Formats: sequence, C-alpha cells, structure tokens
Amino acid sequence: MLFFIRLRGWAVVITKYEKKQAILFDFHLLSHEDDYNFAYQLEAALMEKGKILFVDDEEEALLLLKRVFFDDDNIEIFTAPGGEEGLRVLESADIDLVVTNLRMSKMSGNEFLKIVKDRYPEVLRMLLTGYSDISSAIKAINKGEVYRYLSKPWVDEDLKATIYNALEYINMKSIIKSQNKELKVLNTKLEDKVKERTAQLEKALNRVKDLAGTLKNNFNEIVSLLTDVVSLLQKNLGAHSRRVVELTELLCDEMALKNDEREKIIYSAFFHDIGLVGANEELFTRDIDQLDSDSREIYLQHPVIGEKILGSVKTLGRIAGIIRSHHEEYNGTGFPDGLRGKQISPGARIIKLTSDFDNLVYKKGKSKEEAIEIINNESAKLYDPAFAGAFVRILEKSTGGLHGSYSRVAVNNLKPGMHLEDDISLKNGLMFVPSGVTVTKKMIQKINKFSSMLQLDYEVGIRF
Ligand SMILES: [Fe+2]
Repeated sequence: MLFFIRLRGWAVVITKYEKKQAILFDFHLLSHEDDYNFAYQLEAALMEKGKILFVDDEEEALLLLKRVFFDDDNIEIFTAPGGEEGLRVLESADIDLVVTNLRMSKMSGNEFLKIVKDRYPEVLRMLLTGYSDISSAIKAINKGEVYRYLSKPWVDEDLKATIYNALEYINMKSIIKSQNKELKVLNTKLEDKVKERTAQLEKALNRVKDLAGTLKNNFNEIVSLLTDVVSLLQKNLGAHSRRVVELTELLCDEMALKNDEREKIIYSAFFHDIGLVGANEELFTRDIDQLDSDSREIYLQHPVIGEKILGSVKTLGRIAGIIRSHHEEYNGTGFPDGLRGKQISPGARIIKLTSDFDNLVYKKGKSKEEAIEIINNESAKLYDPAFAGAFVRILEKSTGGLHGSYSRVAVNNLKPGMHLEDDISLKNGLMFVPSGVTVTKKMIQKINKFSSMLQLDYEVGIRF
C-alpha cells in the first residue's frame, strides 16, 4: 500500500507498509508547483479506502480472507459466495479489485472474470487457485484477463503484500489517468494560446502591409505631382515623360517582369529626362543633329545630370543607374559610356525603346507604322532584339488611347481612356492638364470641380 505524508515542504512517500510500520520509504522536497499538485492528487487517492471483493463458494475461505484484513482501516472487504452474487455486489459498490476462486460449483472463476472484464474494465481482476490449476491461471494472465493469481492455500503475509501491490497499482493508474486528463486540457489551452498569438501576429502583419501600401500610394502621388510640376515648367518634357511611362508599363506587362523590377523601371520612365529640366524647348522639338553645339552638349550631358539629381534622393537612388544609361545603344554607339549589349541594364534598354518610339512619333512626326518599321530595322543595332520584338508586338496590337485615331472633343465631353494631344487650360491661360496624358475618372472629377474656371466647350485634340 502507498502512503503519503506532507511536512514543511517535504513529501514522504511510504511505498510499503506492514503492521502500521513503514519499512521502505522514499521522499523528496516539494520545490515546484507540479510536485504539490502531484502530492495532493496522491493524498486524495489514498484517502479513499481500497474496496476488495472476494468471491468463493467455500464459506470458510471467505472468512479466512476477511480475517487477513480485519485490522486494516484502509481496506473495505466485500464477499460473495458465487459469480452471480459477485456481479450483484459490483452493481451496488464501487469495487477496485475482485479476487475470485477459480473452481466454483456454478459459475467458474474464469467465466466470472470474463463478465467483470466486459462490464467493469476498470476493475482489477485476480484469481485464487490451487497449485494444480496454476497453468490455467497463467494462461488467463497471458490473455490479459487477470492481473495476477494467488495460490491456495495462501500465506497471509504473501497474500497481503500481493493485494497491497495491486491497490498501489490501481492508485497509480488513477493518478496517471487524471494527470493525462489535465495534460489534455493544458494542450488544448496551449493550442488556443498559439491560435490567439497567430491571429495577433497576422493582424499586426496586415497593419504593416496597410501602412506600407499607404506609404507607397503617397510616394506614387508625389511622383505624379513632380511630373505635373515638370509639365508646368517644361510642357513637352512632362508630356513625353507621361507617354513613355504608359508605353513602359505596357512593355513591362508584356515581358511579365517581377513587381520590384517593374516598379523600378516605371519610376525610371517618369524621371528619365529629368536632366533636361530648365533646358531650352528646342531640345524637345528638334533632332540632335539640328542642335547647335551648346544645346548638343547639354543634351549629351542630360543622362549624367539626371543620375546626379536622383542619386541624391535616397528612395530614388536605385534608379539613378537606369537614368544614366537610357541613351546607351545595343551595339555600343550610345552615350554617355558607350556600353553594349547586356552591359546595359534591362531598365535602360526598355526606356531606350519606349523613349525613342515616342520621339519618332512626337518629335519627328512619324506614324505608328513608320516608327515600328524603324525599330524593326534598328533592332540589334540600337535595341535589344528580344525587347524590341516584345515592344513591336504590343504596338501592333494596340489601337485605342495613345495609338488611336485623332479627333477633337469639347473639354466637357472627355471620357476616360482618351489620350490628350493638347493642354487643357484655365480661362486665365494657365495650364490645367498637360497634353500627353490619358484621361482618367479622377481627371474628369477634377475638371468638374473646376468647371467654373474652365472653358468647357473648348475643343482639344485626342487620340482614342
Ligand atoms: Fe533622354
């Protein structure tokens, strides 16, 4: 039998007890909350009396068995003269252990234990058997039907020791079961905690994503505002930049570039000619061969000036290299560094194409078809052949907007998707929307908002 005593933080567990005298014990310091929990459970389990049912059709044997435990306050003995009576006791009392004789006149011990196993699997089962039946008792143990056997006739001390061991086994099983239950509850709580923490992290991550999205939108708006300012200062430069951005977006999509790379190239398209801000308007309307030497020098320097302007802005520094190289040519004849082939960054190779196409149409007055033919002819000389092929495919497919047919409409009849060929100006002559942009819903809202300051019936050139 297992006993337990608590004393000033020490748990003393007596593992064997005989004649109210401890003969073997173990102890440990209750240093942890778990130790206390274990100790209280152990104490609770031990406070209950062990209930034993003896079943034997020999009345004298039952009396002898009862007498073995008569002075033990921790054990309550039940007896039954046969299997049927034993089952009735099990129905009414919460028995921990049944001990039955093997040979009985009506129901045999094996039959009785089989029923007990089916109906009360938690009840521990033992056989009491004579030496001649030991082999059948061992078989029953091996089949898992009984916990142990006791030989008949028995020695009282051996019988007591075996019964105490069995009760200790029951107690330990009960404690383990209860601790497993607690462990299961703890696991469920832990899972809930993990779920809760994961949800919190996801929420925080989404907030960071939203914030990043807001910052990005703000940045895009600033880029757009800067382009508006450039348009006001240098009308042709603003219009050229906006058209090049549109073409560059189409080409990036056609080439299925990754988001980061695409974004970098689009920003480069916005700012590729920033080095020309403040330059004479003739630089935007005349071909390089028609410029005087001073203007020609300025034109040749604009990629380097642009690189320096953007290189000083931390968030735009990553595109400065593209700005520097946007006039490099695939065969190495470009400026400022004479780079060739893959020495030129992909972004610069793309902007060289889109910017040249826009200059062919708007500076040199070529039709879309003529510009495509020139690009095809110059592919591998001025342009990356793979990029040029993709660009020509887009141009051949596109019909509306920037590449649509020309007509004129009143300002109050503008529709989203129309490409503006003329500026929209306020009544006092100040420019309101520069040419070269594609009309958007937002722009129409802006026109409606300032309608009193605009000549709404004034016609502007569009492509659609
Ligand atoms: Fe340029």
